[in-house]
Amino acid sequence: MSESMQGLRRSHRCTEVSAAQIGTDVTVMGWVQKSRNKGGIIFVDLRDRSGILQIIFEESDCGPENFAKAEKLRSEFVIAVTGRVETRSGGENKNLATGAIEVRAESLRILSESETPPFPIEENSKTKEELRLKYRYLDLRRPDIQRNMMLRSNIAVLTRQFLAEEGFLEIETPTLIKSTPEGARDYLVPSRVHPGSFYALPQSPQIFKQLLMCSGYDRYFQLARCYRDEDLRADRQPEFTQIDMELSFVDVDDVLDVNERLMAKLFKELLNVDIPQPIPRMTWREAMDRYGSDKPDLRFGMELKNVSDVVRDCEFVVFKGALEAGGTVRGINAKGQGAMPRKKIDALVEFAKGFGAKGLAYVAIQPDRTRKSSFAKFMRDEEMEKLVSAMEGEAGDLLLFAADQNKVVWDVLGNLRLELARQLDLLKKDDFKFLWVTEFPLLEYSQEQERFVAMHHPFTMPMEEDWHLIDSDPGAVRAKAYDIVLNGTELGGGSVRIHQNDIQSKMFEVLGFTPEQAQEQFGFLLTAFQYGVPPHAGLAYGLDRVAMLMGGCDSIRDVIAFPKVKDASCLMCEAPSPVDIKQLEELRIEVSEETPAKA
Ligand code: AMO
Ligand code: AMP
Repeated sequence: MSESMQGLRRSHRCTEVSAAQIGTDVTVMGWVQKSRNKGGIIFVDLRDRSGILQIIFEESDCGPENFAKAEKLRSEFVIAVTGRVETRSGGENKNLATGAIEVRAESLRILSESETPPFPIEENSKTKEELRLKYRYLDLRRPDIQRNMMLRSNIAVLTRQFLAEEGFLEIETPTLIKSTPEGARDYLVPSRVHPGSFYALPQSPQIFKQLLMCSGYDRYFQLARCYRDEDLRADRQPEFTQIDMELSFVDVDDVLDVNERLMAKLFKELLNVDIPQPIPRMTWREAMDRYGSDKPDLRFGMELKNVSDVVRDCEFVVFKGALEAGGTVRGINAKGQGAMPRKKIDALVEFAKGFGAKGLAYVAIQPDRTRKSSFAKFMRDEEMEKLVSAMEGEAGDLLLFAADQNKVVWDVLGNLRLELARQLDLLKKDDFKFLWVTEFPLLEYSQEQERFVAMHHPFTMPMEEDWHLIDSDPGAVRAKAYDIVLNGTELGGGSVRIHQNDIQSKMFEVLGFTPEQAQEQFGFLLTAFQYGVPPHAGLAYGLDRVAMLMGGCDSIRDVIAFPKVKDASCLMCEAPSPVDIKQLEELRIEVSEETPAKA
């Protein structure tokens, strides 16, 4: 039996009721978190998005009819209660915002009943994520997820406020656009009116925001929904939201400056955390050399050391071979881990192999300074001494070495460094270490496609001082591109854009486009650039990632109301799904035999 709320008006959210209202009547509405019948007296924890309020029912206050209704209350019933605010009879509950008071019910309406939920609605749920996502509307009732969603909302509101104050205009760009082959795979939408033709959902508003600069809008921003058909991870979703911006008549420093102040505002106002201004900067090359990563986690040290020169003359074939093949030998020093059992070291070797290492050489320095090592027998004693001292190895340290091509060595040691930090519990979630990584390579060689591809995107401006290398050594050209990194996660990235047609044409040529292909793909942009284009630059954050890190969450799914799982499906609404054959016929689409459409 459900009652209506006609004639009733909510006076407060649960935690808006306070000692200030003692002696007055309030009307509150929400969900029953818990109901305890102590015989003649019923305690109900009432929950809404603000928190919990204790209601107390006694027949002498609320009358037999209401008391009988109160006896029927179960978890997740939705109720409305009018009653008198009192000092809490059983003494203060310091764990609750409303712990000093309770509401003595005078009337009760059951607005809606509830089946027993498939899992308890509680903080820090132990329920498997699959079940929670199937019933996401229930999962979203949990206080920790509600806090995340409120944080996300606050981030969006403050960002809009800040950017508007800085002279940015909020402009929407289309989400049914032309497919372009760079970057991740597109999601396609078939056109009914143009059979055989498809729209793509945007991977980002990149081209449109550049056109807005051409059109003189000067500073643009958008909280833009983006779509990428790529392999999912804890920090990736097929659809996600960018805080996207573009600025005219600016260079690198201008973009970094406004974004440093945006981050400072968000962190100060929402977490009361001071972000250093300016945020430190590091070139891509330095980040790779010191941390083996273009998104280094600066919450701990354990930096990589290049020991190629130290071991150049030794007879250990692993080192020698790598150096002769043009590679390097680098190491990390896991301080105080010299006593790590052999089994655990072997597990690290396996971990390293997962990132392409052929092996991992180690030296464990014992308390008496004797050494256990996987390769000491191939080294002379003084060579080993030199190597240990180059690594600043002391009694009790564990030194780990990888020898290979740079790319492999960086990847292996960069990931090993993170794995050790996880094992040693060095990663504190409330320690926020920001970093700009700058001067990314313009291009990277794709073995798969046997050509250079843009590291950021094809519109990124090369550094002027490197441009002369574009034909002789394209891989050495650096770009005016930057990423903002927080605790080892890439929060956002951007670049100064090419605004000169000759440089843009050359870029397309280096990327392997014929002029006709470039025209076919990006013709409208190239044409637009013939009509007066301001120098411009921009950046986009993953809003979901910003919220994830600010909320101390392990997964981006915890800050998205209705996220998708690893195979890009939604466990709640079961998208994607086969569609009616009629819909397909209208679109003139046929699905092959192996995956039949719904009959
Ligand atoms: P980029 O491709 O680096 O740059 O994307 C910008 C930021 O978007 C976030 N992001 C994602 N978040 C969740 N799930 C995903 N699948 C996903 N992919 C990216 C990341 C990333 O840093 N147009 C350019 C920006 C520019 O140059 O202005 C762009 O899209 O946090
Ligand atoms: P081996 O002589 O092959 O047993 O190798 C001796 C040690 O070198 C072992 O600890 C291997 O794990 C290690 N090793 C092998 N290849 C590499 C490599 N590319 N980089 C670092 N260590 C390696």
